[in-house]
Amino acid sequence: MSRAASDYDRPMRLLVTGAAGFIGTTFTRQALGRLPGAPAVERLVAVDLLTYAGNFANLDDLQDDVRFRFVRADIADREAMAGLLADERVDMVVNFAAESHVDRSIADASPFLHTNVQGTISLLEAARSHRPLRRFLQVSSDEVYGSIAAGRASEEAPTRPSSPYAASKAAADGFVQAWATTHDVPAVVTRCSNNYGPYQFPEKLIPLFVTNAFDGEPLPLYGDGMNVRDWIHVEDHCLALWHVLGLPARPGEVFNAGAHAEVPNRHVTEAILRLTGRPADLVRRVADRPGHDRRYALDASKLRATGWAPHRSFDEGLAATVAWYRANRAWWESVKSGAYREYYEHMYGARLRSVEG
Ligand code: NAD
Ligand code: TYD
Repeated sequence: MSRAASDYDRPMRLLVTGAAGFIGTTFTRQALGRLPGAPAVERLVAVDLLTYAGNFANLDDLQDDVRFRFVRADIADREAMAGLLADERVDMVVNFAAESHVDRSIADASPFLHTNVQGTISLLEAARSHRPLRRFLQVSSDEVYGSIAAGRASEEAPTRPSSPYAASKAAADGFVQAWATTHDVPAVVTRCSNNYGPYQFPEKLIPLFVTNAFDGEPLPLYGDGMNVRDWIHVEDHCLALWHVLGLPARPGEVFNAGAHAEVPNRHVTEAILRLTGRPADLVRRVADRPGHDRRYALDASKLRATGWAPHRSFDEGLAATVAWYRANRAWWESVKSGAYREYYEHMYGARLRSVEG
């Protein structure tokens, strides 16, 4: 697949799935000019099932923008997706919708199979008969490469998923590439490293530890705390996606997006304690996650060579993120109520009591 350079300058009519989740929110807010850096958008149809991770409040203030429409739907509903593509004359699909948390995938993999695999196939099928589609962008993860003992994983590295979450994302990537090759869907795959920033659900390391630290609650650090993750600010990730939407690409081509910022969890934790002014004794070394990948490190030099680069260092981005959670207590207090309490007890209750006892 190759496109005329002028394609990107044409205003886009986008279908953005998972728009009410963490990364989808930032991408949508960029598209509608609430954050800088995105090209002109003529229409943005946001699709989200509003699972526990989706929060319509993230998008509420966009409703007065005539370019914006929100639809509550399951991406696995193929008829609904095909209808939206046709009715809205969509020319670009960006698929963020997913079950995204590794610990939940260990507890129960079935929602991951439904949304990440069957949902992606259903969207691909809807896209297959939709013309003219300029681009189908599958938002994937560096976790498909598995643990990287040394060096960094390039796009050529084999996929070796360790968790059910990573296995579902690797499977989805394979289906996207198959639909590109077999059915001419103009699809590409981006694989990004760990994101952090505003609006992230407080089940993931950084928002969980920041909000717990604010409240003087324990920080449950898995294992020896020396697992390494490669961190990128969510706005830098989304700017990489806009950049990829404008690049010529081969059918099913993969682009890695990462900031080359590999940090052990223990150091992330120490930085959070410093930024929130909390003591080191809040940290609890709890039982490790089964199958816990030791190290992620992503080689993003291919995308960098095309002119994209992240803007924020990890230190700067983390400080801005802590400031956002400090200023938006009402947002995360509401997210951490109700079913979240049960989730927290289920995931952490016994583990925390066993180290405290
Ligand atoms: P998230 O869990 O915050 O958001 C996922 C969104 O998808 C939620 O709004 C949820 O309601 C929605 N959703 C779930 N099932 C759905 C369905 N069947 N139909 C429609 N909507 C559904 O996740 P996120 O962190 O924003 O991740 C977005 C995407 O980016 C995912 O595909 C994830 O695999 C990928 N990714 C995430 C990271 C990261 O660090 N967070 C890194 C690389 C890639
Ligand atoms: P997480 O944010 O769940 O992202 P992922 O597993 O997709 O990389 O976890 C990031 C790292 O932090 C990972 O090594 C697991 C670790 N971690 C903890 O130590 N404690 C926690 O409570 C959580 C959620 C994660």
